[in-house]
Amino acid sequence: MVDPSKPGWTRRPFTPWYQEGRSWLEQQMEQSGLQVSTDAGGNLIGKIEGSKAHLKPIMIGSHTDTVIGGGRFDGIIGVIAGIEIARRLQETGTTLNHSLEIVDFTAEEPSEFGISTIGSRAMVGNLSPEMLKRTDPTGLVLEDGIRMIGGNPDKIEELARRKGDVSLYLELHIEQGPVLEQNKKQLGVVTGIVGIHRYRVTVEGKPNHAGTTPMDMRFDALTGASELVLELERLCKESYSDPVVGTVGKFINEPNGANVIPGLVTFELEVRSIDSKIIEMIMKKFADFSNRVATERSLCITLDNLSKSDAIRVLPDIQEIVADACGIVGESQYLPSGAGHDANQLATIAPVGMIFVPSRDGRSHCPEEWTDFEDVTRGVEALARAIMNFDHS
Ligand code: GLV
Ligand code: MN
Ligand code: MN
Ligand code: MN
Repeated sequence: MVDPSKPGWTRRPFTPWYQEGRSWLEQQMEQSGLQVSTDAGGNLIGKIEGSKAHLKPIMIGSHTDTVIGGGRFDGIIGVIAGIEIARRLQETGTTLNHSLEIVDFTAEEPSEFGISTIGSRAMVGNLSPEMLKRTDPTGLVLEDGIRMIGGNPDKIEELARRKGDVSLYLELHIEQGPVLEQNKKQLGVVTGIVGIHRYRVTVEGKPNHAGTTPMDMRFDALTGASELVLELERLCKESYSDPVVGTVGKFINEPNGANVIPGLVTFELEVRSIDSKIIEMIMKKFADFSNRVATERSLCITLDNLSKSDAIRVLPDIQEIVADACGIVGESQYLPSGAGHDANQLATIAPVGMIFVPSRDGRSHCPEEWTDFEDVTRGVEALARAIMNFDHS
């Protein structure tokens, strides 16, 4: 169920490995007494009916796609945790007041379409027609990808869930950072999640002979792009009222020949913060800087926004429900999330909460990603308790 041609544990959305994983998951859901369906956004959903039909469902979700060269925990444990809780309810003959839905959201990680959290965006009606028409480098149109995994892109808008359609959304996830491990805590109560703005930057110069073109007669796209990459780092290292991180993680130089002056560079950047206004301010400064570089170097530089997700703050009463549950199971602390999650999208229609478990050496988005079994089980236990508490409140 992982792509053998890629490093680590790679399960990119809309690939055969993703589909295989989903089939396995579907079986697990069925064996755990869940009624399985796929919604318009291609999200795989397992449901147990509650005893009080007028109550809107509680939802547990996460994702099973990975970054290229990813690990075995990011996303996956959140879905498996939901299934485990359903299994336990089944085994103990417990019926909740609320229905319970366990969701494997489609394509949470940044995709080749320049969008992340595709399935949760679709679920809350935040996947635009423009996004659905985007193509990946293989020529696949996003809406066809969604159809391929059993979704119905034509009905996304119509079937989207609205504010109040979900009573509570909870997600268990690995921390993906070093804080819990360093503080010797077993569980994290998430207080908020960063917003992420992503842009594609295109720097167009003029390819030419690297030996015969004098230094003052070049229009080198790569040296221009290098200035931009360093400026983003500089801007994000300035001091702000809340932490900010900025990254250029994807970078393509063309034609990429040793004796050719680079003619075209395309790269993708992202900026994250819990305060979206800081991100906007940095991007404004970055755009001004890009204009200056374009003028000084006679390059054509364009910035295209690929996606924006808003930062969210977890409501105090949900933090309390989660903290109470975590407190019974182990040592916990409050912390914000620097990673984006499907919870960012669900927060537009429902109260959301998240529980973190420690990541060894703070590693994630790499094959070394690891969380001890005992830590995962504590997280599942805390998640189950939070749901039971909410269900009875
Ligand atoms: C997703 O894992 C992200 O935070 O980029
Ligand atoms: Mn991830
Ligand atoms: Mn994740
Ligand atoms: Mn994520």
